[in-house]
Amino acid sequence: MNDNIRGEPTVYLNGDWLPLSEAKVSVLDRGFIFGDGIYEVLPVYQRKPFRLQSHLTRLQRSLTAIRIRPPMAEAQWAELFDNLIQRNESDDQFLYLQVTRGVAKRDHGFPNPEVPPTVFAMSSPFQRPSATLRNAGVAVVSLPDERWLHCDIKSTSLLGNVLARQSAIDRGAPEAVMFRDGFLTEGSASNIWMVRDGALHAPLKNHLILEGIRYGLLQELAEQHQIPVHIRRIRQQELTQADELLMTSATKEVLPIVTLDQRPVGRGPHAGKPGPIYAKIRQAYDQLIDAL
Ligand SMILES: Cc1ncc(COP(=O)(O)O)c(C=O)c1O
Repeated sequence: MNDNIRGEPTVYLNGDWLPLSEAKVSVLDRGFIFGDGIYEVLPVYQRKPFRLQSHLTRLQRSLTAIRIRPPMAEAQWAELFDNLIQRNESDDQFLYLQVTRGVAKRDHGFPNPEVPPTVFAMSSPFQRPSATLRNAGVAVVSLPDERWLHCDIKSTSLLGNVLARQSAIDRGAPEAVMFRDGFLTEGSASNIWMVRDGALHAPLKNHLILEGIRYGLLQELAEQHQIPVHIRRIRQQELTQADELLMTSATKEVLPIVTLDQRPVGRGPHAGKPGPIYAKIRQAYDQLIDAL
């Protein structure tokens, strides 16, 4: 029952279903003027959202954090997502949802009286990471984390992330790994994991990183496979001695990082190649998707 209008993706904007090119918001939208909004990205496999409840919980948390009254209850968001999935063509999709503080005369303070938030949702075909990419792995470069102190909010104000990603691209790497005061935070659009002596290590869940939905998921998968997990502050130098490095995000799923600043990650036969802990986690992740 997909009703792609003129072969374009069908999107949702403030109660209407439209072809993407017809979805328009005012230039006074606070998302446009101030980056005053939050977003979610969730993967859909075979038309089934993956880890929906975790995304809904994080959505609620982001709205609360920036003091936007939730425009919908959880069941309504779920229905909206379901509708969006059915109205679009691909079986594998990723959904993008953005909620901003709405349209108002430009003023830094919140609109008073309150205005309705702008709600926009779209779906894109999801090309899962290819076998070639999974086998080849990803190159990353180290960068200072120059973002604000509320990276735990999934805010649309992403200038710090955008500039970090572009610096990485300028240096020939698809992702940046960021450090604040000498400690690992995260990637420009991913969480970063270190493997050492058979254990997974991840930075603390605090205001300095976004708690990815795959952050909790990897912990679960590691537990199921008897891989110890250590959540702690990780010094920048430790990454140069890692056995493996991994990155996770909704669209990259889980990928091995094979070079850090052009040096191979790991030692021995796995140097510069995906390692055994990656292989285990990857397999477990795929099994979850297959079981959907
Ligand atoms: C800064 C940042 N950290 C972490 C993540 C991973 O989060 P998730 O696993 O929910 O995609 C993302 C996702 O885009 C991100 O932008």
